Amino acid sequence: MEYILGIDLGTSGTKTVLFDTTGAVIASHTAEYPLYQPKNGWAEQEPEDWWRAVQTTVQAVLGQSGVNAAQIRGVGLSGQMHGLVMLDGNGNVLRRAILWCDGRTQKQCDEITETLGRENLIAVTANPALPGFTAGKILWVRENEPALYEKCRHILLPKDFIRYKLTGEFATEVSDASGMNLLDVPNRRWSGEILSALEIDPALLGRMHESTDVTGTVTKAAAQTTGLAIGTPVAGGAGDNAAAAIGTGVVKTGRAFTTIGTSGVIFAHADSVTIDPKGRVHSFCSAVPGAWTVMSCTLAAGLSLQWFRNQFCGAERETAASLCADPYELMTAAAEKSPVGANRLLYLPYLMGERSPLLDADARGVFFGLSAMHTKRDLTRAVLEGVTYSQRQCLDVFREMGVPIQQMMACGGGAASPFWRQMLADVYGCPVQTVASKEGPALGAAILGGVSAGIWKSVGEGCEAVVRLNPPQKPNSAATAAYEPFYRLYCSLYPALAQSFHQLAAL
Ligand code: XUL
Repeated sequence: MEYILGIDLGTSGTKTVLFDTTGAVIASHTAEYPLYQPKNGWAEQEPEDWWRAVQTTVQAVLGQSGVNAAQIRGVGLSGQMHGLVMLDGNGNVLRRAILWCDGRTQKQCDEITETLGRENLIAVTANPALPGFTAGKILWVRENEPALYEKCRHILLPKDFIRYKLTGEFATEVSDASGMNLLDVPNRRWSGEILSALEIDPALLGRMHESTDVTGTVTKAAAQTTGLAIGTPVAGGAGDNAAAAIGTGVVKTGRAFTTIGTSGVIFAHADSVTIDPKGRVHSFCSAVPGAWTVMSCTLAAGLSLQWFRNQFCGAERETAASLCADPYELMTAAAEKSPVGANRLLYLPYLMGERSPLLDADARGVFFGLSAMHTKRDLTRAVLEGVTYSQRQCLDVFREMGVPIQQMMACGGGAASPFWRQMLADVYGCPVQTVASKEGPALGAAILGGVSAGIWKSVGEGCEAVVRLNPPQKPNSAATAAYEPFYRLYCSLYPALAQSFHQLAAL
């Protein structure tokens, strides 16, 4: 028997899943770690926490399954995108990683735009300079922590740090590197022009690969701490959304997915570079060689519900613990009892500022229309609806751009809830479909591991072999009509508040 391993380095935790070559889950384990928010709008994590989680979860799946590590043909990595990991010349971590949802770098992004010119920057990197992306974070450290920057010899993305720990290689791949504002996205290589204009030494960056390449093999040291076999090949892998695309079979034009994880993403496959000149959605290289993607990212999707759970749902957490249930299930069951529109309550999910389609690091969350009659179930429903409206607003940009979407998949923790999935179908006004496997990014990463190891000749062949679709969930036309006026009102709130958000940020 042969196996493939997918490691997905998320923001709330790392999930490692061992699959057989039919895509069946043999064992799965997740380990969580903290998110540090030292200032309003900042978000950091400890790279060594990620590595500890990878070691723990790999050991756990090997232990649970009893599989001989030598039978694992390939490992694939998937990870939260954009985060800045800095290492010194000995490979030691220099500071906490600055994450994708950190909004501190607007000033640096303005500098990048001014240095390169907005149109030129978009022509080369296919995206404007965005605070979530990595280049602004590099400039921020250089400006604010110059002594530390002096010591930096390697700049890596989160999953590429794990690659370094597993293989000793400083390498990356095109899907994740696309989110750095440093890649020549049409040509799938570092942009010499951008690096020289921003005075970033190219030697700091990892060697570029396609997602299906073997980038290195497991070292003796990593084998000792993870239990993997020395010499196991590690594929390029992909940013978590590009990996989820593979795991949900979104590898052909016309296919798209919505994921509700910590962030909310709509992602469509594209055969050519498709750019939104207004920068509301991103254009990245796909993990499928020779293809690209269009992607939106709202920053606090699942994070909104997680924040609400942590701050206000202690009782639900206790009840869930005593029943061995999931607190989110209790929360969504209560929200179902509130009507469409949550008794006239709207929620804007801008807890970490917003990226798609609003591009405003200063925006913040809002409950709009609170009344003394509202109950916790209304607030929970408003959070679910607000996050769903934020996805619809992104989908409307795809529709305006003419990106073809014939099949909308759903994945991530949010899509695991039938109630939330139905809400997505109703608010989008189109069917929403899941795949049989719940493992989106980890499965996608494992497929890339399998392709790199030669189990399948192409990503498409790997998807054919393992991705199985469930029947679509259709929209309810009465619900679609009922949501529409609330969605319209939702869209009008940010423009009315934009100035006030900036005033709040300046206080
Ligand atoms: C994508 C993005 C997020 C992270 C979350 O641009 O920032 O989806 O990848 O893990």
